[in-house]
Amino acid sequence: MAGQRQFRRETLADLSGRVVEVGAGNGLNFEHYPASVTEVVAVEPEPSYARRQNEAAAAASVPVRVVDGVADALPIDDGSCDGAVASLVLCTVPDQAVSLAELRRVLRPDGELRFYEHVVSQRPAFARFPARGRRHALAARSGGDERSGGCHPARDTLAAIQQAGFVIEECRRFDFRPTPLVAPATPRILGVARA
Ligand SMILES: C[S@@+](CC[C@H](N)C(=O)[O-])C[C@H]1O[C@@H](n2cnc3c(N)ncnc32)[C@H](O)[C@@H]1O
Repeated sequence: MAGQRQFRRETLADLSGRVVEVGAGNGLNFEHYPASVTEVVAVEPEPSYARRQNEAAAAASVPVRVVDGVADALPIDDGSCDGAVASLVLCTVPDQAVSLAELRRVLRPDGELRFYEHVVSQRPAFARFPARGRRHALAARSGGDERSGGCHPARDTLAAIQQAGFVIEECRRFDFRPTPLVAPATPRILGVARA
């Protein structure tokens, strides 16, 4: 999606070591990983996305390995990652609590979760509509695999991150609008949480 490069760069800035990214979509984050990252393990359930991620991995400046799997059962050892990335994906996983518990399990003690997510609006009038069950148009794309939960834009993802035991170190909220002509803007959170 247009206009997100700056947010992707900000999400990944200063990460280092081994990083797991779940549901990387088209792999649009890969080019923004800093050189201090030694390996990205991209866990992806959908073959079509995995193919696009492998293409993006070939052009990335850090090593990216795309592996089949789901955020709710990561094929990764306990405590083996320095960082974890959830970018526009916690709206999609079937069970946020399970996925976040998995991300925390694979992080080393004090490892960091970087998140960039679209979330429920804090303005009640806006929050009500998606809370009734509206599924984002992206659901059509991400719902093609039985392990995908579709896209639920009304989730309180920041609360879920905290409930999973992460400590929020930084978080900013803003409304994202891809172009001035496209409405409505979607509320986003971007930040760092410590395992
Ligand atoms: C909206 S796209 C992600 C966009 C991408 N992360 C980005 O920043 O542009 C949702 C992604 O989540 C993946 N996905 C869906 N269900 C998943 C699950 N249970 N575990 C991991 N990834 C999942 C989809 O296949 C897709 O790659």
